Amino acid sequence: MSTAPRRTVRRGLLAAGGASALVAAALIIPATAAHAAVVCSVTYQANTWNEGSGGGFTASITINNRQDPVNGWTLRFTLPSGQTFTQGWSANWSGTSGAITATNASWNGNLGTGASTSIGFNGRWTGSYSSPTAFTLNGVACNGGTGPTTAPPPTTAPPPTTAPPTTAPPTTAPPTSPPPTGGPRVDNPYVGADVYVNPIWSANVSAEPGGSRIANQPTGVWLDRTSAIYGNNSPTTGDMGLADHLDEAVRQDAANGSRPLVVQIVIYNLPGRDCAALASNGELGPTEIGVYRTEYIDPIREIMSRAEYRALRIVSVIEIDSLPNLVTNVGSRPGATAQCDTMLANGNYVNGVGYALAQLGSVPNVYNYVDAAHHGWIGWDDNFGPTAQLMAEAARASGSTLANVHGFITNTANYSALREPYITVDSTTRQSSWIDWNQYNDELSFAQAFRQRLVQAGFNSGIGMLIDTSRNGWGGSARPSGPSNASDLNTRINESRIDRRIHKGNWCNQSGAGLGERPTAAPASGIDAYVWIKPPGESDGSSSEIPNDEGKGFDRMCDPTYGGNPRNGNSASGALPDAPVSGHWFSAQIRQLMQNAYPPL
Ligand code: GLC
Repeated sequence: MSTAPRRTVRRGLLAAGGASALVAAALIIPATAAHAAVVCSVTYQANTWNEGSGGGFTASITINNRQDPVNGWTLRFTLPSGQTFTQGWSANWSGTSGAITATNASWNGNLGTGASTSIGFNGRWTGSYSSPTAFTLNGVACNGGTGPTTAPPPTTAPPPTTAPPTTAPPTTAPPTSPPPTGGPRVDNPYVGADVYVNPIWSANVSAEPGGSRIANQPTGVWLDRTSAIYGNNSPTTGDMGLADHLDEAVRQDAANGSRPLVVQIVIYNLPGRDCAALASNGELGPTEIGVYRTEYIDPIREIMSRAEYRALRIVSVIEIDSLPNLVTNVGSRPGATAQCDTMLANGNYVNGVGYALAQLGSVPNVYNYVDAAHHGWIGWDDNFGPTAQLMAEAARASGSTLANVHGFITNTANYSALREPYITVDSTTRQSSWIDWNQYNDELSFAQAFRQRLVQAGFNSGIGMLIDTSRNGWGGSARPSGPSNASDLNTRINESRIDRRIHKGNWCNQSGAGLGERPTAAPASGIDAYVWIKPPGESDGSSSEIPNDEGKGFDRMCDPTYGGNPRNGNSASGALPDAPVSGHWFSAQIRQLMQNAYPPL
C-alpha cells in the first residue's frame, strides 16, 4: 500500500528562478583619521539573479574595524533607487528602500581592533543592478567623506595593521593573520580534539532547570534551509549563520590551548526531503536539484573553504534520512510512499548526496560522514547490503569518488539503544516481535557490522562510524536492572529491553527517552565518536498541525493519539503531546531527557 504524502513546498527567497550572476563590489574604505574615532573597511558582495526586468539579490557585508575597539555599532548605507530590502540577518535591520540601518546583534557588538563581523540581507532590484558605495560606522564615514573607492584589480592582501593604509588596498577579504596550516586529514578527527559548543543551543538548555549540567556539550549545527547558511532567526540557530558559527569555533579553538577543534555541521536540504515522513519536509521540491547545488551546497563550500577556517576540523554530516528510504520505502514495500518512488526515479537524492560529497570533500579540512539510518531500519538482511551498495553509488555520483567519504553516522535524531545489555541476539530471540528477525538489536553492534559491509562495498578500510547518542539513554525508573526470566519469549524480551519504545519504527519525540552517552572520542572499535548531532530539546515534529513558513508538514507519527502505519507495525506513535514544529525548542522533552539520562547526569 502506498500513501501519497501531503506536503507543502515553499521556496525561499533564494530559490527564485532565473540566471544568477555574482556581482562583487569590494571596497576597502579607510576613513580620514582627522574626523574618525572609528576607522572601518567594508566589503559588500552581492549575488544577484535576474527574473526579467529585475530580480533579487543576496548581499554579504563584512565590516572590519581598523582602529579603536567598539562596543556596539551602527552601519548605514543607501540602497540605489529601484532596490528594496526584504530580510536581513546577523544584525537588527531597519529601512526598506533608500537609507538602510544595521545595528549589531547581541553577540557581535564587540569589535576589537582589527576584528571583523559579517552580516547580510536579501533584497529586490529593478532596472539595472548596482551596489551601494558609501558606508558609515557609528556615524563616521568609512570613506572619510570622499566618496566611494573603486576597487582596482586584486594584488596582495593588506597587512593586519591598525594604521589605515594611505591608499585603498584592493582586496575582497578582510585582513587576517596568515592562515594556519591544517595538514592532511587525520584518521579520526575527534581524537585529541575538543568539539564546538553551539552558543545558541547552550543558552536554550541553560534556561531549563538543571540545564547547566549539559550546557557545555557539543551538538550539531543544522543547516536545514538555505537561509540557515546566513542566519535566519530560527529558534535554535538564532541569528548566527554558518560563518558566524565558524568564527565562534575559531574563538573556541583559540581558547583551548593546542587542542584542535571539531565543528559539526549538518547538511540537510535535499530536494524532496524526508520522503517517507512529513514533519521535516524541506523547502525544495523533488526536482530542485539545481537550486540545491548552486544556492545551498556551493555557498556552504565557499564559506567552509575560507582561509580563516583552515585549522578547524569540519565534520559534515550528510543528508539524514535520505538514501535508505530509496531501499525500504519504495515499490512494493509495505512502507512505500509516492514521494520516495519519485526520488528514486529522478535520482536527485543520489545526485544530491554525490554533489555534496564532491564539493565539501574538495575542502581539505572537511570530513564527510554520510547518514546510514539505524539498526531498526536497515538491520534486516534485505535492507543491509542494498543500502551499502546505494551508499557506494551515491559516493560515485556527480563527480564524487569513494575517497570523499570519511565515514558514516548512525542513529541521527533517533532513539535506538546503544547497547541492549540484557538481550543476546540469537535464533530464538530474533523470533520475538521486538527484534522481528532483524540481525541486530542495538546501534553499536549494527554500526560496527555495517562499517565492514561498507568496506566490502568499496569504501576505504579506514572509514569510521559516528553514533548519535543524544537521546538513546533510556534510563530512569522504567529501565530494567537485569534480564527477565519470563518463559514467554515476547514477555521476556519486553521486560529485558532498555529501549522502552512501543515499536522500533517510532521516531518522533519519544516518551520515556533519556540523554545517552555523553559525546566521546574513539569509544569502541571502528567508532570515531559518540556525538550529539540532534540537539536534545529540539522537537522532531508537531503533535498537531501548526502552520509555518519552514516547509514543515504535520506527521501523525508525532501525534500521541495516532495508531500507526506499516512503517511502525501499525503501533501507537509513543510521541509526547504538545510538541512544537520540528527543530523548535521543546521544553518538556529536554526535561524528560535529562530526567531519564543514562548514564545519569
Ligand atoms: C529536524 C528539523 C530541522 C532541525 C533539526 C534539528 O530535522 O526539521 O529544522 O534543524 O531537526 O533539530
